[in-house]
Amino acid sequence: MKIQIPIEKFKDIKTPFYYYDVKLLQQTLDVIKKEIDKYPNYYVHYAIKANANPLILDLISKSGLGADCVSGGEISAAIKAGFPSDKIVFAGVGKSDWEINLGLENDIFCFNVESIPELEIINELAAVKNKVAKICFRINPDVGAHTHANITTGLAENKFGIAMEDMEFVVSKAAEMKNVEFIGLHFHIGSQILEMDDFIALSKRINELQNRLEAENITVKHINVGGGLGIDYLKPDENPIPNFTDFFKTYAENLILRKGQCLHFELGRAVVGQCGNLITKTLFIKKGIQKQFCIVDAGMTDLIRPALYGAFHLVENLSSNEPKEKYDVVGPICESSDVFVKDFELNKCHRGDYLAIRSAGAYGEIMASTYNCRELPKGYSSEEFKS
Ligand code: LLP
Repeated sequence: MKIQIPIEKFKDIKTPFYYYDVKLLQQTLDVIKKEIDKYPNYYVHYAIKANANPLILDLISKSGLGADCVSGGEISAAIKAGFPSDKIVFAGVGKSDWEINLGLENDIFCFNVESIPELEIINELAAVKNKVAKICFRINPDVGAHTHANITTGLAENKFGIAMEDMEFVVSKAAEMKNVEFIGLHFHIGSQILEMDDFIALSKRINELQNRLEAENITVKHINVGGGLGIDYLKPDENPIPNFTDFFKTYAENLILRKGQCLHFELGRAVVGQCGNLITKTLFIKKGIQKQFCIVDAGMTDLIRPALYGAFHLVENLSSNEPKEKYDVVGPICESSDVFVKDFELNKCHRGDYLAIRSAGAYGEIMASTYNCRELPKGYSSEEFKS
């Protein structure tokens, strides 16, 4: 079964574009809500970096989630979309002064701090404003995640976070400062993680670190385990909504929380990944010697994941039910890496056919570029095509 998308209504719309199934997004948000309601001290912050299209942010902010931001631009987008500033967390290894100031002016919930120089600057800038910035330290737990090397973040060799051996030192440093308040620990081990064992390993590491802090009589109010829950790129229709039940339960069973402690999550891909499809039109079918190419009007500028990470996205021909043939589906960009899938079976393609590139809601539209002087793709809600 192919995805049901009303292609007859696309005639006047310029391709390529993103088509967001907002019903699926709402169902996903409803499941998250149902699951976290089981744990009164759990809080989910949507990782805006995955998709900041206003129509997506609007739905997510209405569902009551907080926001995880990594730039001043994301803080502004979150506030504009109605996320309350006291539910905004702000991470990133390189925060500029204006971005820190923006966070301070909006009294955001917390800065996730990744180094001592950053801690010092936040303290200074907060002093100028006569404020106290709440901070969590991002600790690098040296836990590997079974995912693509470019999207693991929790190994000692990565640029992220503060080394575990420095934890006590940075905490004591923060205690000496007047304009920062140390409220917790932050972690994130990577993205597109499907093995719960990785989250178990992180939980165990956090338990160890908490024991170490307690030996120094320090208990924190907040633990933030970041994001990372993956989606099923191979079978988006069988698994349109990730298994949030198992995800939260894994933490509930493995991460030992202290009395009154809150557990925070920063989920991006799992929230929006499956609701987005990149819709593209076939320009030409070109027969090579051993291959045939289906040349489409979307390129790596619209969805860079296959070119950048070798990521797989399912492709479907929405306009044809003819027997399947093998194609390399390629874009128009002047780069050999501008390929979506190779040797992939699609219902026979013709010029003008609409193709859907599936599971493109996360890190799709937001990572688009104007390389080759191309226009950025637009994003439409499925509601706009309803009869
Ligand atoms: N928190 C932090 C600190 C992060 O660095 C990230 C993602 C998240 C949360 C959200 O992770 P998620 O739940 O979406 O896995 N562009 C890549 C993914 C980069 C992820 C960067 N950090 C891709 O297309 O696969």
